Amino acid sequence: MTTIALYNLKGGVGKTAGCVNLAYLAAQEQYRCLVWDVDPQGAAGFYFNATAESDKLSKKLIGGQLDIEELILSTGYDNLDVIPADFSSRKLDLFIEEQKNSKKVLKQILKPLKQEYDLIFIDCPPGFSALAESIFNAADIVLLPTIPTTLSLRTFDAVKHFFEEKQIDGSKLMCYFSMVDSRKVLHNEVIERFSEQRKFFQSSIPYLSDVEKMGLHQAPLPYFAPNSRGTKAYEALWEEIKEGIF
Ligand SMILES: Nc1ncnc2c1ncn2[C@@H]1O[C@H](COP(=O)(O)OP(=O)(O)O)[C@@H](O)[C@H]1O
Ligand SMILES: [Mg+2]
Repeated sequence: MTTIALYNLKGGVGKTAGCVNLAYLAAQEQYRCLVWDVDPQGAAGFYFNATAESDKLSKKLIGGQLDIEELILSTGYDNLDVIPADFSSRKLDLFIEEQKNSKKVLKQILKPLKQEYDLIFIDCPPGFSALAESIFNAADIVLLPTIPTTLSLRTFDAVKHFFEEKQIDGSKLMCYFSMVDSRKVLHNEVIERFSEQRKFFQSSIPYLSDVEKMGLHQAPLPYFAPNSRGTKAYEALWEEIKEGIF
């Protein structure tokens, strides 16, 4: 089982779109996948049309009153399950902080899924928190969609610094350029300057209205637009990510 957390300190960079589309592509290739939506905004669950059955599930999960299996729902797509966010997800951070082993709590919670899934995709909220730290410890790969601007690259440095401070293995951190607008000179310059860094995947995701339409269709992009340039980009990215795992 490999755990991939879609994370960035910033919101609105394409974390959820990446999480949903990459998980869907992996599931299409017969990998048994679970998307865990830990962002209280609940966007990943929304794209799968999944709603939590109670508003206290996340709280009970962290408190040890529920096993993670009890939160899993089917997405209707083969090999792809989801744990939607619920009302108590907004306080996940506090619940985790209250735990004695807060750093390792998510890793412990995911353990029983080892035999059931090949890939766990965690859709993270932005920001640094006890939740983020626990996710970073649980994840094998922390994947940062990064908009190619100089400010976004500073954000990457801040995340790297957080890893160092918390003594988390920095080799987990991987990036890809997201929402790339090739008409923007700055985007092209930043990509040219930084894509050589081994932290960046070669494939990037263009800025496309097709990706935005995921909300209208409430579905992964490759499902409703298999021939879209966006789908091709996510496929290429998935190929690269997969190379490092299997
Ligand atoms: N490659 C893209 N091109 C155009 N719009 C995008 C792209 N990726 C995401 N979006 C849109 O931008 C918004 C934020 O994306 P989202 O994946 O929710 O970001 P995050 O999870 O980082 O907050 C959403 O409305 C989404 O539809
Ligand atoms: Mg999101």
